[in-house]
Amino acid sequence: MDKLVIEGGRRLSGTVTVSGAKNACLPIIAATLLTDERSVIRNVPSLRDMATMVKILRNFNVKAHQEGDKITVEPAGYKKYTAPYDLVSTMRASICVLGPLLAKQKRAQVSFPGGCIIGPRPIDLHIKGLEALGAKIKIERGYVIADGSRMKGGHVYLGGHFGSSVLATANTLMAAVLTKGVTVIENAACEPEVADLVAFLMKMGAKIKGQGTHRLVIEGVKKLRGADHSAIPDRIEAGTYILAAAVTKGDITLKNAKMEHLLALADILMESGLSITKVPNGLRARYVKKLKPMDVTTLPYPGFPTDMQAQFMSLMAVTGGISIITEKIYPERFIHIAELGRMGANILLEGPSAIVKGVKRLSGADVMASDLRASAALVLAGLVAEGRTDVHRIYHLDRGYERIEEKLGRLGAKIRREKEK
Ligand code: EPU
Repeated sequence: MDKLVIEGGRRLSGTVTVSGAKNACLPIIAATLLTDERSVIRNVPSLRDMATMVKILRNFNVKAHQEGDKITVEPAGYKKYTAPYDLVSTMRASICVLGPLLAKQKRAQVSFPGGCIIGPRPIDLHIKGLEALGAKIKIERGYVIADGSRMKGGHVYLGGHFGSSVLATANTLMAAVLTKGVTVIENAACEPEVADLVAFLMKMGAKIKGQGTHRLVIEGVKKLRGADHSAIPDRIEAGTYILAAAVTKGDITLKNAKMEHLLALADILMESGLSITKVPNGLRARYVKKLKPMDVTTLPYPGFPTDMQAQFMSLMAVTGGISIITEKIYPERFIHIAELGRMGANILLEGPSAIVKGVKRLSGADVMASDLRASAALVLAGLVAEGRTDVHRIYHLDRGYERIEEKLGRLGAKIRREKEK
């Protein structure tokens, strides 16, 4: 297993290119199962999650391969419809093959994805969406077993205790595009990744109204064709590099980053004192004055993203004054607090809120990455800490950040990957 070794205290500057969005690519690759024709997805990051998705497609006897930032899928005549435990258990997002299989094969068996380190992750909304279309679903031997032979358009309110759901919306949408009749999804997730999936489905010939809104109206069609699509840039990766500029008092230009995807985050950072400006084909994040403490609550899009909560905590840890961060999507997503504490951060957890008292300095330490975004938070903390930080178990990072040590290295960070002894 690898670890990252960071010598902190360097100011980062220069240009970084933002990769394609992992969370847009995953459901889009699953959507290629809706046709027999060849599809090409471009701007795909080279990440472990993409390799897992390719493996899942191959498990259905679908031809799929990644070459650079392009994934080509040729599903012609595939018949299999089971996504087994050993594949699904390595990546929760595998659940997004459920909708396409059900629409195309009229049945699906997908291993129940279970919870993960960021807390329980139920799939009741996925089931609610598919049942509204008439699918018969049971859970047996750890599998979601779905029969879609009698599906027809339906009307569903897809909201739960924590609001809308990205992948439940994706699954219901992908099931509906090939299902006879009109389907209406109320309280659909409107994250840019869902809008990008809608864009891909429309290129395949799907009839969808309401792209990027909370109400999607889908008129089922008989057949879809293959499509060629370039995924949107990764707003979470972009946000993480913006924070790298903020914590290191640096000046980073983010090629491909889109302000319209980052409004909540940019608003809070600019209020705090960071300069974020649009530049041709990207954004520039620049430390210009002492930052003020922040008060952040995670919410569904266009609110502040839960996938940036951990990284913000690292910035708050070194920002003078008291900052508060409240997690409303995954109330247990706080494992990183203990690790940041090892580096000298002063953070108190009070229910779903973390109260962060900014300290003058963090000190490098051995820390353990617990999940993808928590790992990024530890890297940011390592960049600003005095001395050496070893971030262990970085296989999580490799699921979601393309060549992070190379990108940070080019910006001036002293960072290297090492094999654990
Ligand atoms: N929820 C339910 N029932 C469901 C589904 C979700 O109650 O059936 C709840 C969840 O427990 C959570 C909330 O609804 O409290 C939102 O979860 P959502 O379903 O939107 O999450 P997801 O679709 O499983 C995607 C991203 C996550 C990101 C969340 C929230 C992908 C592949 N994953 O997950 O990304 O945190 O949306 O924005 O798109 C990451 O990239 O590190 C990551 C975890």
